[in-house]
Amino acid sequence: MINIDELRSRLLERIKTSDQPRDVLKSDEIKQLYAAIPTLEPSERGAYGKAVNELKISLEAAVALREAEMEDVSIETLDVTAPWGVNETEPILLPTQQGTQHPLTRELENVVDIFTRMGFEAVESRQIDDDHHMFGALNFPENHPARDGYDTFRTEEGFIPPAHTSTMQNRILKNGKKALEDGGKIAAISYGRVYRNEDVDATHEHTFYQCEGVLVSRDASLGQMLGTLRSFFEVYYGQKLKIKTQPAYFPFVEPGLEFAIEKPAALGGKPGEWLEMLGCGMIHPNVLRAADIDPEIYRGFAWGGGIERLVMLKYGIEDLRYFESYDRRGDRH
Ligand code: PHE
Repeated sequence: MINIDELRSRLLERIKTSDQPRDVLKSDEIKQLYAAIPTLEPSERGAYGKAVNELKISLEAAVALREAEMEDVSIETLDVTAPWGVNETEPILLPTQQGTQHPLTRELENVVDIFTRMGFEAVESRQIDDDHHMFGALNFPENHPARDGYDTFRTEEGFIPPAHTSTMQNRILKNGKKALEDGGKIAAISYGRVYRNEDVDATHEHTFYQCEGVLVSRDASLGQMLGTLRSFFEVYYGQKLKIKTQPAYFPFVEPGLEFAIEKPAALGGKPGEWLEMLGCGMIHPNVLRAADIDPEIYRGFAWGGGIERLVMLKYGIEDLRYFESYDRRGDRH
């Protein structure tokens, strides 16, 4: 006769390690248990049936347990941003002593530092935003071709990884409205990553950094803006600079300008060699209105430009792609 106790421990073991534990309930061994019933003396059948039933109940319980256990494993959350496999005991990382800040991070901190010392509050720009902040609140009419100039990515839900730090303007203005009406001014920069659906080459990247400035008061003027920008660039490059502007179109400023500096001789420039550094202008009345600020009383200026460009000029880096590549000769893994 079949030894039910021995069978129980064997099947329980199998359930514990099986990926399909329920199949064990239909295994040949179980079928044989039932097939044996007609061969038994009628007097034995009662006790035998009871034992088989108990066996089934304990196996069912073990199957349920195993299934719950497997479900737990399959919903274990994975940190897909972790720089190593979460199942590895020892992450393969370079020792921290060998790490340094990315040059762009260091330079961005430097830029933010200069503006904060000039009295600007600094806010980080968002990595994901909506159409309203990216375009609507910035006086881009619906379906206006100027929107196409920004080559924006879009998620299926219609969100936008912002194509410029101007996406923060409306929030900065709304946040500062009270201080403005209490007699103060709004002076803030927003900085961070921006994204454009562009082919990558020596001067274009799909992901890059910008820094934006916004100043609103009762008497903001283009003159103040040019003074502010000149001061910034002179501090950043550590020398006197020549600047010039030319008209440019951005829906959120009027007038709109492109701001250029003469490439300093110390950085390999020749006289008359101008480098366009950023876009700027007086904030359009509709942009102030979108933040419920009265353009009859208040006026402002704004600017925005790329960080990579600044850094490339400072260190003589010719190709934007170097920021995202690295020298593999030091690799140990
Ligand atoms: N957001 C503009 C760009 O990325 C730059 C800009 C900012 C121009 C603020 C004017 C005022 O092209």
